[in-house]
Amino acid sequence: MKKRSFISIIICMCLMATLILTSCGEKADTESKSSKNTTATYVESDDFSYMALVNKTHKLPKNWEKQLKTVKMTNSVGDEVETEKKAYDAYQKLKAALKKEKIYVDLDSARRSVKEQQRIMDDFTKQYGADYAAKTVAKPGYSEHHTGLALDLYLIVDGKDIVENEDMIKFTEIWAKIHKLLPKYGFILRYLEGKEHITGYGYEPWHIRYIDDAKAAKEITDKGITFESYLGTASEDPVKIDYGKSKLYTKKQLEAAVIQIKCKFAFWHECKLENIRYAGDKAVTEKNLKWINSLDKNNKYKKICEFLMDFHTPEKSKDDALESDHEYKDYQWWLAQNEEGGWDIVSQGY
Ligand code: DAL
Ligand code: ZN
Repeated sequence: MKKRSFISIIICMCLMATLILTSCGEKADTESKSSKNTTATYVESDDFSYMALVNKTHKLPKNWEKQLKTVKMTNSVGDEVETEKKAYDAYQKLKAALKKEKIYVDLDSARRSVKEQQRIMDDFTKQYGADYAAKTVAKPGYSEHHTGLALDLYLIVDGKDIVENEDMIKFTEIWAKIHKLLPKYGFILRYLEGKEHITGYGYEPWHIRYIDDAKAAKEITDKGITFESYLGTASEDPVKIDYGKSKLYTKKQLEAAVIQIKCKFAFWHECKLENIRYAGDKAVTEKNLKWINSLDKNNKYKKICEFLMDFHTPEKSKDDALESDHEYKDYQWWLAQNEEGGWDIVSQGY
């Protein structure tokens, strides 16, 4: 146990160092490798492009701010929203088409500065903890909202503004109708259900992205793939998830734990997730609980669980802590339930 926790900490430290280096821009950006599911090959650039990829491993291009043209509007709740010009025109057309189907939407948030993103991140971290924040809010500098091309919609149902995420998510039929119309106006849905290991975020039916290419948007939507795999930076190969049998946790609780793990996995450049499996109730022992509580004296966890993962690293790993073209088997993830009922990732590694 001691050895595993020591190695886990070393691996975590190395990964954190890699992430810090990347965020400081000290690592050179390189052309992304294409995978066998690829339709296009993504070439990184410092310049504005409607096809730019901004995600957990791709930050906002350097020259973006000075090349971006935006418009500002005030939404139905009186907030000012700034959007990239062409994306806003396309949004107006989408909104008009939805109105014909008696679906009413407005813009909750579009372009955000790095400072604004930091404020949101700080709020979420304080309220829900760092892991929940990381699966919901992008790290400042790495949010698609910086581009002005990502739009968060909210719904107006029976004349009432539905703006809270937990309320909006319940309107599944309305979202399905909205999502169907997106490609015609050059938009895609960005954070798909089940693809958290690629996108790095939980399902967000409201977050749409303008790509200025109706044909590409249709292909992405029809295939149900992520923007990442369309651009060739990720594989859509299915991930096997085995929740096993648990007398301690419901399937919903284990699903939430897996989403948490997948969102963290997406920090690793182009690694291919193969499977995740619940290690079983047998791992939930007093001894392991004591060990987990010894890792961070600020927490007094009562519930823990363990998952095992197999994954493969790319030919040239960009993460210093991970070997290139290597099959990692039985990689361990330990999670503990926080006071809000969510899961914190407390240890990972061998
Ligand atoms: N909610 C999305 C991931 C963002 O913060 O950019
Ligand atoms: Zn968003």
